[in-house]
Amino acid sequence: MNETLYKQIQRFYDASSGLWEEIWGEHMHHGYYGADGTQKKDHRQAQIDLIEEILRWADVQRAENILDVGCGIGGSSLYLAAKFHARATGITLSPVQAKRARERAQQLGLGNTTNFEVADAQAMSFADNSFDLVWALESGEHMPDKVKFMQECYRVLKPGGKLIVATWCHRPIDNAPLTASEQKHLAKIYQVYRLPYVISLPEYEAIAHQIGLQNIRTADWSKAVAPFWNAVIDSAISWKAIFGLLRSSWSTIVGAVSLGLMSRGYERGLIRFGLLCGNKL
Ligand SMILES: C[S@@+](CC[C@H](N)C(=O)[O-])C[C@H]1O[C@@H](n2cnc3c(N)ncnc32)[C@H](O)[C@@H]1O
Repeated sequence: MNETLYKQIQRFYDASSGLWEEIWGEHMHHGYYGADGTQKKDHRQAQIDLIEEILRWADVQRAENILDVGCGIGGSSLYLAAKFHARATGITLSPVQAKRARERAQQLGLGNTTNFEVADAQAMSFADNSFDLVWALESGEHMPDKVKFMQECYRVLKPGGKLIVATWCHRPIDNAPLTASEQKHLAKIYQVYRLPYVISLPEYEAIAHQIGLQNIRTADWSKAVAPFWNAVIDSAISWKAIFGLLRSSWSTIVGAVSLGLMSRGYERGLIRFGLLCGNKL
């Protein structure tokens, strides 16, 4: 099952990353539009702001050796490496993304301090206690075993280091289970974006306790990031995007025509953008 899922994720990003970079640049994640989502700003700036707001929220002052779990084309890894004058390693399932990240690192003069590999976040080859910052921005939703994913992130974290996970979630289900209509909506999102399933933020928090993470904090930033999808929809109907789509794969086209699924998910309170951070003591 994982092999099929992993192949699908790999093909999805191999096929779509070039077009995404052309239209949106190097960051393959939501933007930040103020705590209540009302700030109007350039959308690429909003993506940088998301990184900065996460660092502020998680109180990251410095980092020396960073692991970017699910690194895309190195957007966060290179940004963080430059900001903190740190070493950074990025892992992705997509060889196309890893190659592009390496090229970008060279272009930015960061080739010697960064490293990009095709590797599975659930079975990493890094030694225990290797990194002082483990950063997983919008990759947790792809993981078939959320416990294994979090355990691996924790294992490679140095004592005193910080784990930050920002990921797509569904609403908490303590008071009411997901309805049939919500499950149907999620199933469509899973299919389009190659996700096995998502869980709620309280479930991530329970896993964080289970694996031994300390000083755990969580936050729901759905309001702050939801406007991003309207911007993506607008950009998808530009001529540049339409020409790009005509040259791209079927999965990229399906992704583009299904963009409304995420914004409707936020509108009905089903989709949530969850943050979690904590330390290894
Ligand atoms: C939405 S992209 C986010 C990219 C990047 N974090 C960013 O914000 O620009 C999701 C990334 O997770 C990676 N990914 C998904 N499942 C993975 C796994 N099991 N192991 C490693 N990377 C994975 C994908 O290859 C892709 O690079």
